[in-house]
Amino acid sequence: MIDAAIFDKECRDCPRLARFLDDVKDRFPDYYCRPVPPFGAADARFLIVGLAPGMHGANRTGRPFTGDHAGILLYQMLHKYGFASRDHSEAADDGLTLIDCRITNAVKCLPPGNKPVGAEMNTCNRFLANELRTMPENSVVVALGGIAHRAIIKAVGERQLEFKFGHAALHDLDSFRLLDSYHCSRYNTNTRRLTEAMFDAIFAQVREMLDN
Ligand code: URA
Repeated sequence: MIDAAIFDKECRDCPRLARFLDDVKDRFPDYYCRPVPPFGAADARFLIVGLAPGMHGANRTGRPFTGDHAGILLYQMLHKYGFASRDHSEAADDGLTLIDCRITNAVKCLPPGNKPVGAEMNTCNRFLANELRTMPENSVVVALGGIAHRAIIKAVGERQLEFKFGHAALHDLDSFRLLDSYHCSRYNTNTRRLTEAMFDAIFAQVREMLDN
């Protein structure tokens, strides 16, 4: 039987990640510490793919990019371009809704040091593959960072060599267009590898692609 699941809250397929989540739960009993589900409607035409839950953000709150620095600019942009009901995301029950937009992560569990290993990327990739397969026609996917980009290329069965990551690179895949962006991490925004203007232009382009 083909496993078409896009998410499994009980998943413990990656031993290192499962152990790490147990350890973090011991240290922070109030934290969510489980695989973090995608956020937003399944029929949204805009999918954002991040790397993995952040320790004190998604791993604490249970919602992607919620409650830490990485989400600040992201939700501002989503709100500015009409994809979110509010410009900040604090907690899973804060009432924020996404509009024709969905956010997921290439790896659903918090990895030590924010770095999933290859085997973990591969094991988790089936969820992303199923999620991408069920997207509506004319969808746009934004990859936040090179790891998310490569997870998407792998998930659709394409060759990495033919689709290289680059900020603002646009790739025509069979069933959707993929637009790359540098990740909106604290490191990238503090060092200005990713400026607000650069990130703004990504969202303006997505809005334009979906509206026309
Ligand atoms: N939070 C997420 O959910 N994903 C990231 O990639 C970073 C922070």
